[in-house]
Amino acid sequence: MVNERAAQIAGHLAPNGLLAGQVAIITGSGQGIGAEAAHLFAREGARVVVQDIDGAKAQGVVERIKQAGGTAIAVTGDMLDAKHIDELVKKAAEFGGGKIHIIVNNAGFTWDGVIHKVSDQISQPGRRLTAKDEAA
Ligand SMILES: NC(=O)c1ccc[n+]([C@@H]2O[C@H](COP(=O)([O-])OP(=O)(O)OC[C@H]3O[C@@H](n4cnc5c(N)ncnc54)[C@H](O)[C@@H]3O)[C@@H](O)[C@H]2O)c1
Repeated sequence: MVNERAAQIAGHLAPNGLLAGQVAIITGSGQGIGAEAAHLFAREGARVVVQDIDGAKAQGVVERIKQAGGTAIAVTGDMLDAKHIDELVKKAAEFGGGKIHIIVNNAGFTWDGVIHKVSDQISQPGRRLTAKDEAA
């Protein structure tokens, strides 16, 4: 009863979802945290650009979002490639009717280990994906 009432109130506050009308790029959303974010955003009404270096995984997430009634496209490529980023923004803007509201900079990989044992070879690609240290 309480849950039903809470759902009813939430429906009145944001009937089409908290992100209705928003266009979101989520990098590295073919699996893991990014994929979960893509599903959550789509459930909240966002139009989602599922970006990943693995095209099959990105397409799989898009199919599941569509099956659940959401809207999404897949854009495949390497976020370390500047040309791909230009293409990603262009495709996202086309998909969003000229607008991009949200970018989740998630692409990366998780290396288990203590920080003082992580070598530059391991950490640099991850840092380049999440920071602008290339220009330094
Ligand atoms: N899982 C954790 O405990 C944890 C902790 C801290 C930070 N993070 C960070 O959160 C993010 C997501 O973590 P996760 O556990 O979901 O990782 P994951 O490995 O499950 O998924 C990462 C996704 O990013 C994609 N990807 C990797 N490099 C890419 C590139 N150059 N261009 C485009 N796509 C690329 C992969 O194909 C994969 O689909 C990562 O950036 C990770 O470093 C994760």
